[in-house]
Amino acid sequence: MTDLYFMPTKLVHGIDSLSQIGDLAKGLGMSKVLLVTDQAIAGAPVFGKVKSLLEAAGVPYAVFDECEIDARLRHVDQEAQHILDDGLDGVISIGGGSVMCAGKAMAIVAGQGGGSFADYAGFGNFKKRAYPMIMVPTTAGSGSEVSQVTLVKDDVGHKKFLGGGPLSFPEVAILDPIVLETCPQFVNAVATVDAITHAMDSLFNRTTTPLTESMALESLNVLVGGIQASIFDKEPQAMADHLLASSMANMSCGNAKLGLSHTLSLPMESGHDMTHGIGVGVLMPRVFRYSAQFSPDMVPKVATAWGLDATGSTDAVADRVEDAAYAMFEEIGFPKHFDPAHIAADQIPSLALDAGRGLYGEGYMADNPNRDTQIPTFNLGTTTIGQGEEILAKCWA
Ligand SMILES: [Fe+2]
Repeated sequence: MTDLYFMPTKLVHGIDSLSQIGDLAKGLGMSKVLLVTDQAIAGAPVFGKVKSLLEAAGVPYAVFDECEIDARLRHVDQEAQHILDDGLDGVISIGGGSVMCAGKAMAIVAGQGGGSFADYAGFGNFKKRAYPMIMVPTTAGSGSEVSQVTLVKDDVGHKKFLGGGPLSFPEVAILDPIVLETCPQFVNAVATVDAITHAMDSLFNRTTTPLTESMALESLNVLVGGIQASIFDKEPQAMADHLLASSMANMSCGNAKLGLSHTLSLPMESGHDMTHGIGVGVLMPRVFRYSAQFSPDMVPKVATAWGLDATGSTDAVADRVEDAAYAMFEEIGFPKHFDPAHIAADQIPSLALDAGRGLYGEGYMADNPNRDTQIPTFNLGTTTIGQGEEILAKCWA
């Protein structure tokens, strides 16, 4: 078996790294860019700073500031056409995962000469390079800034689909802790749990390699150990470390792939407007506990990364990590269970059935899926729709 590690995005990180954005844009040959953001960031000081820096560097810009939770297909298609019509030649996203996904999807569609992102859904389903991109994450979470894939939601079909491939890696990601200074504590907490889940998901796959494992374990060490200093005390260096660790977690799962937490969460995000970080995060401790049986050697490594005692039986150590995750949830105000008023527990069988389609669009492995049908994932071991149902059931109180 041959393994591949690929992550071509240039990472510019550290305190005051944002000040380089003008030169970085010019270095990519950007002469007039589309700034992509949401209403909250558009009114924040950091957005004004980015505009000033681009003006000082002589890089004109247009602004799209209507991003919502989840990148929206109608925005993506509309702004890709805007890029083409107005002769823009680069995309700069400033925001969380949804904003970065929107910008990446716009760059992909513009790169193909227009059309709809829906036409390019799936992995690697387009032939031309996306327009040049700079990503400025404003949360330490999604890691979308170093990811070749993007998730877009179609409001009409209530469907969330994945697109992207090697031709849509952002050229540059700028990780400056200034963006976290004004980020609300709960937003930060949800983003951090998403990043932790990326690392956890990537450690129990058939595609896990020593490279992805080392990235994931070190990112866990920084993300879990730095919660107080980064999220509560807002120490600049701790926030910078959290931003880099969230990128590292995505560099791991981008290569070792995501796992069951993301696979089982997708139907809730598609059909029930579940917030991504909450969907995957509530699942994460349960998925870890389930996955531990398939890689007993990995369990003490995870415990050590979480700062826990790694001695004892696999079950004892795995229980310790699971309990530590719930304690962390309590500390940061993150929910331990899904809210039945949002999604009723009687939806679990249909959610599990939907998850059987797979995260990467592989589709069912059987024509008439049932509880014994295998969910297509990269996870070690096998997981049936029935087992997915059992994991989901643990997430409701
Ligand atoms: Fe995620």
